[in-house]
Amino acid sequence: MSTGVEEERTMRAIVQREFGASAVLKIEEVAVPEPGDGEVLVRVAAAGVHAVDTDIRRGEGPPSMPKPPLPMTPGREVAGTVEAVGPDVDAALLGARVVAHVGFRSGGYAEFTIAPAAALHALPVGMPFPQAVAAIGTGRTAQLVLDSVEFRPDDVVIIPGASGGLGSQLAQLALSEGATVVALYGGEAKRAVVEQLAHGGRRSAGRMLTLDATDDAWPERMTELLDGAQPSVLIDGVGGATGRAAVESLGRGARVVIIGWSSGEIVRLDSADIVERSLTVAVPLGRALPDLRALETRALAAVAEGRTAPPVDEYRLDDAASAHDAIEQRRQRGKVVLVPSGL
Ligand SMILES: NC(=O)c1ccc[n+]([C@@H]2O[C@H](COP(=O)([O-])OP(=O)(O)OC[C@H]3O[C@@H](n4cnc5c(N)ncnc54)[C@H](OP(=O)(O)O)[C@@H]3O)[C@@H](O)[C@H]2O)c1
Repeated sequence: MSTGVEEERTMRAIVQREFGASAVLKIEEVAVPEPGDGEVLVRVAAAGVHAVDTDIRRGEGPPSMPKPPLPMTPGREVAGTVEAVGPDVDAALLGARVVAHVGFRSGGYAEFTIAPAAALHALPVGMPFPQAVAAIGTGRTAQLVLDSVEFRPDDVVIIPGASGGLGSQLAQLALSEGATVVALYGGEAKRAVVEQLAHGGRRSAGRMLTLDATDDAWPERMTELLDGAQPSVLIDGVGGATGRAAVESLGRGARVVIIGWSSGEIVRLDSADIVERSLTVAVPLGRALPDLRALETRALAAVAEGRTAPPVDEYRLDDAASAHDAIEQRRQRGKVVLVPSGL
């Protein structure tokens, strides 16, 4: 059966032939892959770039992430149109606008990539490809975190790293529930992306305060702006000094949700902190993963319904190294995405 792909057809793809610094991400002309049974060929319109991709590139991933064989093309989150289908896949999918998380098979940093047909989600009408990519991986994580927080309209939610892929979507989800969000960002260059969060989601019912966490006086400024009220929820993916200051700002009975440590140091929190302030601590991402497809569906619905409008930071495909640098050098503004067809 024809796959719809001519032999000898080539494409541009990022090919990594060694582990190391971002310079190992080189653009090459390679053969367009052919979809096998249960697979489709996607013409990539947007490919997500994740902090985990930078770990894989350096060859420094955790044990759950074995070093991939090289050469490889990175990229686990892709959106685009179905260009060809495998022998046993319904040809009705040809031309469909889709998004998929392809897992550690990777291959998204390319003009075309293979995705399992079972991993595809049809793109809701009008949803831009980069935002779909932001939803399929980082958005599904945000939904998982959401389940352990259960925002309430009277919550005051403090989010360090609200400029990042995950922090930005969590801030919008909290706003859509009517909560007050204290969005922390790291320096003037990040201010605009955080300020737009309150306007991005069409269903932003809550109030948002933005504070520069590189100014040591941010906790006092927050107290002034909140008129003495204290945060009831901390969602911390940054840790270090900012995470610790955020813990100290919490009110009695607050919920703490730890999702990561971008600063390199997990937030310091001991039993005295927990007892003195009756804190509840959750680590939702450490558990066995639930039904990821259901989380992906919910994340796409959140974008379609305007509860999130993930900010995206777009790079050309041949600029993948700069996209990795942005993540590793703390210059990301929202979800970092490669756009193979150009900006
Ligand atoms: N995305 C996911 O699906 C996922 C899944 C599991 C766990 N996590 C964890 O959740 C956290 C956030 O993930 P993400 O995808 O939102 O990452 P991201 O897009 O790279 O954003 C991380 C944010 O952390 C802040 N940050 C503060 N100090 C930093 C430092 N020294 N280096 C780098 N960033 C620093 C930055 O904001 P400012 O510069 O504005 O402070 C940055 O925007 C990470 O710890 C990650 O490991 C994410």
